[in-house]
Amino acid sequence: MSTAISPTAYNYKVVRQFAIMTVVWGILGMGLGVFIASQLVWPELNFGLPWTTFGRLRPLHTNLVIFAFGGCALFATSYYVVQRTCQTRLISDSLAAFHFWGWQAVIVGAGITLPLGYTTTKEYAELEWPLAILLAIVWIVYALVFFGTIVKRKTKHIYVGNWFYGAFIVVTAMLHIVNHASLPVSFFKSYSAYSGATDAMIQWWYGHNAVGFFLTTGFLGMMYYFVPKQAERPIYSYRLSIVHFWALITLYIWAGPHHLHYTALPDWAQSLGMAMSIILLAPSWGGMINGMMTLSGAWHKLRTDPILRFLVVSLAFYGMSTFEGPMMAIKTVNSLSHYTDWTIGHVHAGALGWVAMISIGAIYHMIPKLFGRAQMHSIGLINTHFWLATIGTVLYIASMWVNGITQGLMWRAINDDGTLTYSFVEALQASHPGFIVRALGGAFFASGMLFMAYNVWRTVRASNPAEAKAAEQIAVVGAH
Ligand code: HEM
Ligand code: HEM
Repeated sequence: MSTAISPTAYNYKVVRQFAIMTVVWGILGMGLGVFIASQLVWPELNFGLPWTTFGRLRPLHTNLVIFAFGGCALFATSYYVVQRTCQTRLISDSLAAFHFWGWQAVIVGAGITLPLGYTTTKEYAELEWPLAILLAIVWIVYALVFFGTIVKRKTKHIYVGNWFYGAFIVVTAMLHIVNHASLPVSFFKSYSAYSGATDAMIQWWYGHNAVGFFLTTGFLGMMYYFVPKQAERPIYSYRLSIVHFWALITLYIWAGPHHLHYTALPDWAQSLGMAMSIILLAPSWGGMINGMMTLSGAWHKLRTDPILRFLVVSLAFYGMSTFEGPMMAIKTVNSLSHYTDWTIGHVHAGALGWVAMISIGAIYHMIPKLFGRAQMHSIGLINTHFWLATIGTVLYIASMWVNGITQGLMWRAINDDGTLTYSFVEALQASHPGFIVRALGGAFFASGMLFMAYNVWRTVRASNPAEAKAAEQIAVVGAH
């Protein structure tokens, strides 16, 4: 490979911006998670004000962690990966800048409207129509930049990570636009274009595939680039990655009805959702194994490299949550788990263990390269962060399993005369210790993010702008 510096340096500016905002939104979103978890322990923290009640802050938490933190991580990494693997600059700097600022505007809009109580009431699609339209426009611009860059690539083939990012971009656009079809009646209120069971089905087709394509497929794109890079090993099996891709996207789209078991949704649709969810275990584990096995011959690196630890442990949590999910999709299991904290535990096994951990690993990998440093300011602090995140996740999910199963069993316990054995309040009292442990686990995880912010800040501050520029140019040559 030639060592000449190419005149077409990459656009790292937008990558840097999204990477920094990943850390900022991560702190705010997770901090808010700790706050709402504390409200469930001490309800006085609702302060008796409408804007600060659990009901309004909960959707703000989900929007901040999924779309602000997760979104920025996906955008930063996808722009980094697509440029390096296609060996070309993004097609347009101004469109990329519009993407960055437009996305931040949507999030700030969410931060204002959700506490004020403006919501469509559809979970993960709460933003009212003006913000939903802005989001759609920003997303289309993102798609143009990403796919345009792939079209003008200098490499022959398209690296598999880009396939995953590409599917995430196309399917998220489709889900968002279909689920948001609605009739506005005022600037802040609209009604869904669908009604009854159809509305519920469209919503959970959206909701489940938001998990499948936003929280899974995009992050798998991340996995396929950053795990081999950090381990300095080629991906275990390229063939498996192709099978993984097609099997995953073909199956995910059918599994939505498992969110609507025992509802007015036709029985056959529920059973289809259940069957597809069980089959989904295979491609999910195929992907996990492909990532894990990439470490063959490099396992010793785990002893000294906390970034690799983040990436590998994230895969372990991915495997765990994608085993748990298909089990919970079985109707009889779901009759116990649904409405309970078990679901919340499952969500955060995926969200903290998988989504957040892989993002954190990828950001630690990128920051020194983006800012022209040999490595992060402190490897020791990355290690501290790793343990805080791992212990925090385990405390969170273990307490929610205990709570969930306790709640499910208490709610269904029946006396000989057919009356309920426990009142709802008794089940709530039994959940209180678990709520405390969850808040503690969350505080562990969120405090790890503060260590990250400090470490990133020190790395960025120490960086030399001229070196960063040179790194940008050399990267064009060194990328694959
Ligand atoms: C410090 C970390 C976090 C804490 C303490 C936390 C806490 C919470 C709490 C208390 C709830 C409400 C549970 C309930 O209604 O009973 C919740 C819901 C949720 N959180 Fe988090 N969270 C954290 C991080 C995250 C992250 C990083 C993500 C995603 C990437 C995430 C995604 C979600 C989702 C999707 C829900 C809704 C779950 C459902 O409706 O079933 N959270 N979180
Ligand atoms: C093979 C993979 C998976 C399957 C089959 C699956 C299945 C399920 C099932 C059955 C539920 C409970 C539905 C209910 O009772 O209401 C659920 C909830 C959920 N799962 Fe998964 N899951 C999988 C992987 C994941 C992953 C990796 C994540 C996160 C990154 C995740 C995030 C969620 C969320 C956010 C919910 C809560 C939705 C809500 O009610 O608001 N899932 N999943």
